[in-house]
Amino acid sequence: ERLPALLAAMPKAELHIHIEGSLEPEMIFQLANRNGVELAYESVEALRRAYAFTDLQSFLDIYYAGASVLLHEQDFYDMAWAYLERAARDHVVHAEIFFDPQTHTARGVGMEAVIRGLHRASQDARERLGISSALILCFLRHLSEEEAFATLEEAMPFRGQFIGVGLDSSELGHPPEKFARVFARCRELGLRLVAHAGEEGPPAYIWSALDVLKVERIDHGVQAVHDAALMRRLAEDRIALTVCPLSNLKLRVFPELAQHNLKALLDAGLVATVNSDDPAYFGGYMNDNLVQTFAALPQLDARDAWQLAHNSFEASFVAPDVRRAWQ
Ligand code: HPA
Ligand code: ZN
Repeated sequence: ERLPALLAAMPKAELHIHIEGSLEPEMIFQLANRNGVELAYESVEALRRAYAFTDLQSFLDIYYAGASVLLHEQDFYDMAWAYLERAARDHVVHAEIFFDPQTHTARGVGMEAVIRGLHRASQDARERLGISSALILCFLRHLSEEEAFATLEEAMPFRGQFIGVGLDSSELGHPPEKFARVFARCRELGLRLVAHAGEEGPPAYIWSALDVLKVERIDHGVQAVHDAALMRRLAEDRIALTVCPLSNLKLRVFPELAQHNLKALLDAGLVATVNSDDPAYFGGYMNDNLVQTFAALPQLDARDAWQLAHNSFEASFVAPDVRRAWQ
């Protein structure tokens, strides 16, 4: 079988990776020791055993606990450098990286430590690993829009170091329209816009992400298959979906990888992409997602592999002249 080799070797972009979700248990313990942070788990193994999720919220609770070891600029640098090094081995040539500043500023960590650490790793990785990357600031949707505005304000001194904003955390009960005003402001500021929608939430959340927030990509979006008109809209407007198959499996969005709808999304002409979401928590980086999904869905073939790589560049926020060289 030659497909795994093709999937692994093909150049690709990763567009849905939460940098805090790349924090491996070993690094969580290393940073906890370095920073004198007390963890609720006694060992790397005990922590890993706790990674038994039943839905999005059960994951988020442990993901925010893991992020509590990040205190200093160097911690953010080390986390991002480890991800970029790992992604480069998967032939990811470009990554658009989410970060959750509110998870850190709420603990008294300065915005400058977060953004400077991540940005410095991004610069060093471009130079030393040949991988390009950009940052996307995510607002936590379980918090208020007022708090999102305050976070945007705090981040503005670093406006040159992130390219856009996103929306993540607990989806159900926190529809996109809750953030209409702050996304309108971000749009005026020239920021690129994305939002998680249709991971656990209904197609209506995808519609409002598009029509109210005016996002350019939908993160996850797999629930779109339940709405034929929405599928046509996504295809016609070439709105990309950043699909994360192993995440969907671990958070029980699909009971088995064999039931994942990636092939249906591609066959409907959607700009679907494959991504890792929170690789340290969901058991796989970019190529693990591709290889395991292709193994579970035998209808996916070499053309789909090429299409996914092509889509990842089309959907990226890299300037068209630069990305055409990759496509
Ligand atoms: N969904 C929502 N919020 C998140 C996720 C996700 O998959 N990963 C990290 N924060
Ligand atoms: Zn995500």
